[in-house]
Amino acid sequence: MVKICCIGAGYVGGPTMAVIALKCPSIEVAVVDISKSRIAAWNSDQLPIYEPGLDNVVKQCRGKNLFFSTDVEKHVFEADIVFVSVNTPTKTRGLGAGKAADLTYWESAARMIADVSKSDKIVVEKSTVPVKTAEAIEKILTHNAKGINFQILSNPEFLAEGTAIQDLFNPDRVLIGGRETPGGQKAIQTLKEVYAHWVPEERILTTNLWSAELSKLAANAFLAQRISSVNAMSALCEATGANVKQVSFAVGTDTRIGPKFLNASVGFGGSCFQKDILNLVYICECNGLPEVAEYWKQVIKINDYQKSRFVNRVVSSMFNTVANKKIAILGFAFKKDTGDTRETPAIDVCKGLLGDKARLSIYDPQVTEDQIQRDLWMNKFDWDHPIHLQPTSPTTEKKVSVVWDAYEATKDADGVCILTEWDEFKNLDYQKIYDNMRKPAFVFDGRNIVDMDKLREIGFIVYSIGKPLDPWLKDMPAVA
Ligand code: NAI
Repeated sequence: MVKICCIGAGYVGGPTMAVIALKCPSIEVAVVDISKSRIAAWNSDQLPIYEPGLDNVVKQCRGKNLFFSTDVEKHVFEADIVFVSVNTPTKTRGLGAGKAADLTYWESAARMIADVSKSDKIVVEKSTVPVKTAEAIEKILTHNAKGINFQILSNPEFLAEGTAIQDLFNPDRVLIGGRETPGGQKAIQTLKEVYAHWVPEERILTTNLWSAELSKLAANAFLAQRISSVNAMSALCEATGANVKQVSFAVGTDTRIGPKFLNASVGFGGSCFQKDILNLVYICECNGLPEVAEYWKQVIKINDYQKSRFVNRVVSSMFNTVANKKIAILGFAFKKDTGDTRETPAIDVCKGLLGDKARLSIYDPQVTEDQIQRDLWMNKFDWDHPIHLQPTSPTTEKKVSVVWDAYEATKDADGVCILTEWDEFKNLDYQKIYDNMRKPAFVFDGRNIVDMDKLREIGFIVYSIGKPLDPWLKDMPAVA
């Protein structure tokens, strides 16, 4: 029986391995992690991450051919294929700080693999890593190998949170990069056979190692670039009276462009886009390509601009001050159908409003109070390190309350900011919300999900990104 071990039981390792176990009953899969609480949660009824359909997949194979364990060394020792899906944060100190990927966790995983292995293994990069990481990993492994043969493959993950199970069941493509040697090609074939249990052969792409590593960074950069492009247009729409929904629909009908990922919003978030683009920028700089680096940097700058533009709209509309006003924040996760808050635009928007002394009442159907409080007091990039390495937050901030109901959050509020596109926010009783708010009552829709006309009829002053401005907002300056 082929044995797979995956180091890192996070948003990628957990769902990916659960689907491999489900689709390949003849393979035994162990997912291991240094975090005891995370593994305990994977072994309980309350999985550590929220992902539609995940519960069902885990329940079908856990205890049969899918195991979650903290005994990292035992499972690595036994495995034929070791996936490494640990976090690869942005460096916060030293060379490349604020841009380069921090490979501390990756390196310690590689050293441990070399230490405990007594048989040949295929080591698969599942984490998103800088180009040429495989070379470094190969050196660590071979210099500590004691005669054991390690083959390194790059198999970046393209799943999107919120649709991870669907994406894993039916991927656009699976990408496997390996060395162009007979040993490398044999390893590629072995991994290909795992995916071939459910993925059509023509969707399994094989490349050299560097192409696979770079393709993942490139794909994330292209995706984020589409969002920044439409967000840049949204600012121009507001200035000219165009409607960004109409513009993006018209643009997206061109088959060369396509309609997906063209929704204007308060900005992109998630653990990957910013981190991977910063990493790409750093790699370009290191390779003497400052113009290319500048080009990609702009994608992040527009994202930051969009978030501060939103905050400025809120403040300027409310008579240029939100001091001591209650603002309801609906949605904190970086997108719907996930509880993940890493790099969510809600953090910057909330910090911006708190900087202007607002009082916030936050509601998200999947994010806990503890998480929100931690996110709001954490330094940039600290979120991607284990909890015990993160600075502790100061005493709970009185200006932020977290509630479990949208009506509670909006009660007596002066304004409502919609920051995540949860379906339930589309169908709220906005008349009831209006009746319980202070007047004039404002709605700032950062995801373009509400019916502006209906809300205006109720009496709200409405701002929706990239849509023609309410007469109220027209005279209010909102330049970032
Ligand atoms: P995560 O932070 O949810 O999970 C990483 C896990 O690795 C943590 O539970 C941590 O405790 C564990 N870990 C760290 N060092 C370890 C070690 N030495 N031994 C055992 N366990 C260790 O991160 P996530 O989101 O799963 O991402 C992992 C990688 O996948 C990153 O490189 C990310 O860029 C990439 N990725 C993430 C996607 C996403 O949507 N979250 C999508 C595609 C790729």
